[in-house]
Amino acid sequence: MIIKGTFIDAPSMDSYRVRTGYGVFSDGICKGIFDELPKEYSKEEVIDYSSYLIIPGMSDLHLHAPQYSYVGTAMDLTLLDWLNKYTYPEEGKYRDLEYAKKGYSHFIEDLKKTTTTRICAFGTIFNESTLYLMEELDKAGFGGYVGKLNMNRNAPDFYKEESVEKGIEDTISWINKCNFKNIKPMITPRFTPSVTDDYMEKLGILAKEYHLPMQSHLNENKNEILWVKDLCPDSKHYADTYDRYNLFGKDVPTVMAHCIYCLDEENKLMKENNVYIAHCPTSNENVLAGICPSSTYLHEGYKIGLGSDVAGGHTLNLLSVMASAVQVSKLRTLLDKDYKPLTMNEAFYMGTTLGGSFFGKVGLFEKGYDMDLVVLDDLDLGNPMEFNYTERIERMTYRENIKVVSKYCKGNKIV
Ligand code: GUN
Ligand code: FE
Repeated sequence: MIIKGTFIDAPSMDSYRVRTGYGVFSDGICKGIFDELPKEYSKEEVIDYSSYLIIPGMSDLHLHAPQYSYVGTAMDLTLLDWLNKYTYPEEGKYRDLEYAKKGYSHFIEDLKKTTTTRICAFGTIFNESTLYLMEELDKAGFGGYVGKLNMNRNAPDFYKEESVEKGIEDTISWINKCNFKNIKPMITPRFTPSVTDDYMEKLGILAKEYHLPMQSHLNENKNEILWVKDLCPDSKHYADTYDRYNLFGKDVPTVMAHCIYCLDEENKLMKENNVYIAHCPTSNENVLAGICPSSTYLHEGYKIGLGSDVAGGHTLNLLSVMASAVQVSKLRTLLDKDYKPLTMNEAFYMGTTLGGSFFGKVGLFEKGYDMDLVVLDDLDLGNPMEFNYTERIERMTYRENIKVVSKYCKGNKIV
């Protein structure tokens, strides 16, 4: 497949790379971006997207698919009350497969309209509806990971696994049914307060045995951190409640959402173990969690990408999440005058290049990388100013006035 147009990506955090020419893709892999169409392809059909912008598919490293039903509402509480009042009652409804089908179809239809091609998503504790979600995401062409949730404490009876044994049995049965092309299973203990030590230990064994990655939450909210201390008095810190059961990077690729209040020791462990941070600024604002030191993480070489964290986050649109990442990091400078806020370029790098690296060769237009690309129409350019390409990207993040013309993940056409 040959695509003509302007390709914008970010091989480094301090500059965009803008190339106008021909992108050559074959079997879902990029063969390169060329100024002139190489002779050997001269007979191939060329798809002309010259009037649009072409960016890499973006990676949403953290979201909750069943929460999409109440996205944009329920913003009046902080995390722990929010979970009890809104989240568990809604996620509990996904026991009913018919309800789940409605909710997940709605979620996937809206996800298609965004710049996202790869996801790490939480499902619910229910196998059937989680498998339905995975099958539909796969059919739609998306790539990434989905987790059947593990939760056996501190939740209402209608939304809690009944025992560790049954939870493990269900998790194994779910893993064995995950025969999808580009959507794979991920071990997903909700967060430490939801999972007893003996369950966490067994999940660590499962992750290793089945060679699966894991995702969870870390240091999002101050009350949550105090609660973890209380629940796990023997642990060194919050990160240790995962790490002591081999659920914190190294052989188990790991994404931890938030990481707002990490101790130096936890940071050291994250870096050593190659743990990915999912920075979710819209969610952090909405449930009043705090301001993640994202630019410090980025500049100190941590793996940090973006997450919508729907429905703590109010939008699936990662361009909006980029804008929010820049905005909240500016607010952090009010608390710490030495803090250097994120630039738009850095936020773009996190949402494409760095986030994409969790999924393999994803997030750049380079030979050997997966063909994950989004063709964007930035609609109303009908004002008298002229914008260069990077200004157009910036403008799209703040104004949200865009249309996804076409989108591919690993060469599969989503839109
Ligand atoms: N911590 C545990 N569960 C959740 C959740 O669903 N959303 C957020 N933002 N934090 C969590
Ligand atoms: Fe979350």
